Amino acid sequence: MQNLLKNGIAITGSGSAVPSTSLENEVLTQLVETSDEWITTRTGIRQRQLALPPESLTILATDASKQAITAAGITAADIDLILLATSTPDDLFGSACRIQAELDATKAVAFDLTAACSGFLFGLVTAAQFIRTGVYQNVLLIGADILSRWVDWQDRRTCVLFGDGAGAVILQANNSDRLLGFSLKSDGTQNHHLNLAYEGTTQQVTPDIHVPRGTYHPISMNGKEVYRFAVQKVPEVIDKALFEAHLTVDRIDWLILHQANQRIINAVADRLNIPDHKVISNVAHYGNTSAASIPLALDEAVRQGKIKPNDIIATSGFGAGLSWGAAIFQWAR
Ligand code: ACO
Repeated sequence: MQNLLKNGIAITGSGSAVPSTSLENEVLTQLVETSDEWITTRTGIRQRQLALPPESLTILATDASKQAITAAGITAADIDLILLATSTPDDLFGSACRIQAELDATKAVAFDLTAACSGFLFGLVTAAQFIRTGVYQNVLLIGADILSRWVDWQDRRTCVLFGDGAGAVILQANNSDRLLGFSLKSDGTQNHHLNLAYEGTTQQVTPDIHVPRGTYHPISMNGKEVYRFAVQKVPEVIDKALFEAHLTVDRIDWLILHQANQRIINAVADRLNIPDHKVISNVAHYGNTSAASIPLALDEAVRQGKIKPNDIIATSGFGAGLSWGAAIFQWAR
């Protein structure tokens, strides 16, 4: 169906950036009761990169975006739309406009999109709609998060999991449609399993009116439930996206899942019968970078020469919401 549409989509360039400070598992054993052995066997994570001031989400996202723009062979002036998928903007009003200014992408409209660890996937499909309808030709999609700001570093159930980073891609209008299929899902009834919830302390406006003063609780997660959800729902949604794409699983060249946990990646690949050599993983180096994890893994694999033009990629994001989704696309024009 999609191939009949005039305005196809191609993902023509990628970029990524991580902050310079590494934190190895061993260091975490000085903060909380944990061990390198527990973290590596339960999650596959060995280290993560943390953004320290003056590093910021805007800086990481801008670095990743510049690389993606260069790789796509366009200039910032060509960009019509900047979509920033993030749950951790530098500014609660959104950080996409700051990135637009840093890039000098004067023509582009820019806004943030929040869907936690599914953010890149949801952003990909959102960007695709603007291109399919013929409204925009060149879209910069960024997935970036600094979850280290929102982690309770005394909570061993979460502090070992997350890291910071940014990844970006350029989507362009193309004669043939390279976004072959997708499926997006949400289930708000499971929201309590994973959140970064608003917490209001009170401030007095008048003697009778007390309004909440904004602050947020640190990340809270029921790891077991989220694990169970991911291992069940991710294979299902990839199957659905494959069905939309009229493809069978053996046509997949690369599987790039949200990098939350190596055990989830392995379990999903097993359920889909996708062999290890087709599975891309960098969770050992970066931990869970939320909306950044998929474009970061994609960009590394492209730069390492693993992913080549025309390769078919199955990708899936999942996380808070709860939200999850999958897309099947062919790399490059
Ligand atoms: N070090 C040592 N022990 C620990 C640690 C730690 N860092 N964390 C938990 N434990 C303990 C627990 O307290 C528990 O002890 P108990 O049996 O005495 O109660 C034991 O280890 C087992 O805990 P579980 O939570 O059952 O461990 P599990 O094997 O499920 O692994 C993990 C936990 C890694 C969090 C896993 O459940 C997971 O990866 N879940 C999915 C997370 C995810 O995918 N999130 C994605 C979205 S993130 C987003 O959207 C922002």
